[in-house]
Amino acid sequence: MCVLITLLAAAAGSTARCEPTACGQAPAASASCPLAASSATSDVGPQPTVQPSNLYFFNAAGVPVTISYVAKDGSETTRARLAPGLRRLLPSLSGEVWRVRALRPGHPLDQQLLLEHRVGIVQIKDCDCPQPEFVDCQKPPFRRPPGTPNDPVAFENHAGAPLDLFYWNGTCEEMISWDAVGGVQPAQRKPIQSTHGHTFRARSAASRHLLMQHTLADLVIRPCDDETRRAAVRAASPRAIALRRATADLEQEQEELRAQLEAALAALAARLAAAGGAPAAANATTTLPLHSGALGSGLGLGAATKARWAIGATGASLLS
Ligand SMILES: *[C@@H]1O[C@H](CO)[C@@H](O)[C@H](O)[C@H]1NC(C)=O
Ligand SMILES: *[C@@H]1O[C@H](CO)[C@@H](O)[C@H](O)[C@H]1NC(C)=O
Repeated sequence: MCVLITLLAAAAGSTARCEPTACGQAPAASASCPLAASSATSDVGPQPTVQPSNLYFFNAAGVPVTISYVAKDGSETTRARLAPGLRRLLPSLSGEVWRVRALRPGHPLDQQLLLEHRVGIVQIKDCDCPQPEFVDCQKPPFRRPPGTPNDPVAFENHAGAPLDLFYWNGTCEEMISWDAVGGVQPAQRKPIQSTHGHTFRARSAASRHLLMQHTLADLVIRPCDDETRRAAVRAASPRAIALRRATADLEQEQEELRAQLEAALAALAARLAAAGGAPAAANATTTLPLHSGALGSGLGLGAATKARWAIGATGASLLS
């Protein structure tokens, strides 16, 4: 009895806290964005134990991005640029760290960290998943036809008990770890020749209890702040072009209004200068800086405006 209670307690305590995707569910709405700063670096380890892996990046961030490899010393080397809406494959090795940053020169959010990924062996844990029924495909072991694209993946048993691995095609499951008689043992590793998009299920070898599900899926780059999130939504909307055009028209109008104001101010300044008994109006620019500077700063006009004002002032006599 005492032994049974201990066993039950151990079993209950062995379930891991996992992301919803580890049970085949949609990712959490608040899908994590990385912290602004990270100190993760690549640690590939001795070459013979390293597993190759293909990374598929999909840019859903609404802005262009750079994809960089983070070396052991922490330095980042850009390996690719990716426009919004595009997808790209980069070969990698387990232990490597990759970072994706916004590419927005001149914008305050330029270089914002959007994604960090450590390539790794998939650790199988008992994720306390809802239990989908086990439907056996009941077919002989699958043999890969030659020439099938290979996206290797490796699983490692961290569930504390022997497990079997299955390929799930949407309706039934086919055992792929049949060569591991008695199941993949705790701490044992199982490399699989796979193809992107495939879904695997790890089940207890003894009870067929589902431990975890894993899909070879894209690394989706998402916007990490409200401003970019809105931009990403806008960029995808059919109204986006019309809005951009309207904004450009408004900016043009604003520019014209500003030019008219400058001309009017210049005329006013010229009249003030003339009224103050300034020397020849033909050389108005010599007397204007005093007035224009005072007026300009009072109105909060920038250097460019003041410069244009001097030009406007020479034509002031035409207006007055
Ligand atoms: C999955 O495999 C089984 C057995 O080969 C087949 O009958 C079934 O149609 C497949 N399901 C899908 C969605 O392809
Ligand atoms: C205008 O003032 C400048 C600077 O004092 C002077 O060099 C220039 O000869 C003047 N021009 C005229 C037309 O008076």
